[in-house]
Amino acid sequence: MTLLKPKVLRYESLPSTNTELARMASEGAAEGLVIVADEQTAGRGRLQRAWSSPKGAGLYFSVLLRPSVPVDQWPLITFVAALAVGDALREAAGVQTDIKWPNDILSGERKICGILAEAIDTTRGRAVIVGIGINLAPGAFPEATSVVEASGSQPDREAILAALLSALARWYSLLGEREKIVAAWSSRSSYATGKLVQVRNGDEVWQGTTCGVEPDGALRLRTANGEIKLIRAGDVYSVRARA
Ligand code: BTN
Repeated sequence: MTLLKPKVLRYESLPSTNTELARMASEGAAEGLVIVADEQTAGRGRLQRAWSSPKGAGLYFSVLLRPSVPVDQWPLITFVAALAVGDALREAAGVQTDIKWPNDILSGERKICGILAEAIDTTRGRAVIVGIGINLAPGAFPEATSVVEASGSQPDREAILAALLSALARWYSLLGEREKIVAAWSSRSSYATGKLVQVRNGDEVWQGTTCGVEPDGALRLRTANGEIKLIRAGDVYSVRARA
C-alpha cells in the first residue's frame, strides 16, 4: 500500500502542468508533487490533442506518482484518477458523474473532465505524471459541460482540488488491488457493460456492445459476429440503437 502525501506548487501560467512536472520528475522530484496552473498556454490532451486551458475556466493540475506496483498494473492509474475525480466532484461540488472508457468524466453525457497519464523515465526510475483538467466554467470547449452548468453554482476551485487530492490518496493506496479498482470503476461507468458503442483508433473502427473490463483496464467489446475484442487504445462513442 502506498500513502500519497501531496505537496502543491502553484503557478499563474505554464505551457502545460504535465510538461513542467515531467521536467521536475526527471530531475528527481518526489512522489506526491502537485503542480497547479491558473492557465496553460499549451495544455495537452490524449492522442496528441490540445487541451484549451483559459484562465478562470478550469482546474488544471498534475500529480507525480512513483508507483511501487508492477508496471502491468499501471494502466489502472487512470482508473484510480477517474474514481478520485468522481468522488471530488460529488463531495465538493454536488455533481454526479459517469466515466467513459478509458477516463473521460461526463456529466449529463457531456465531458466535464479529462485525464492524461504519461509514464516517463527519471533519474529515480520510471514514474507517472497524472494530469487532470476539470471544466469549471463554460468557455474552454463548446461541446463540453462544466461544473457551473452541472451544479448551477460557482465552484470552489480550492475545495475541489483538496477533495480530489485526498480521494486520489485513498484510491492510490488500493492500486495493488486490481479487482477492487476495476469493480469500483465499472460500478461508476455506464460504458462498462451493455452499451452500444463505436470505437475509433486511427483508421480502425469497431462497433459492438461493451461487456466488462479486463483486470488490466482493457475494455471488452462484443462485435456483431459475437467476437470479443479487447480495446486498449482509442476513442469510444455511444451509439443510439435504432428503434
Ligand atoms: C483528455 O481528455 O484528452 C485529457 C486532458 C488532460 C488535460 C490536463 S490539464 C492539466 C494537465 N496538463 C496538461 O497539459 N494536460 C493535463
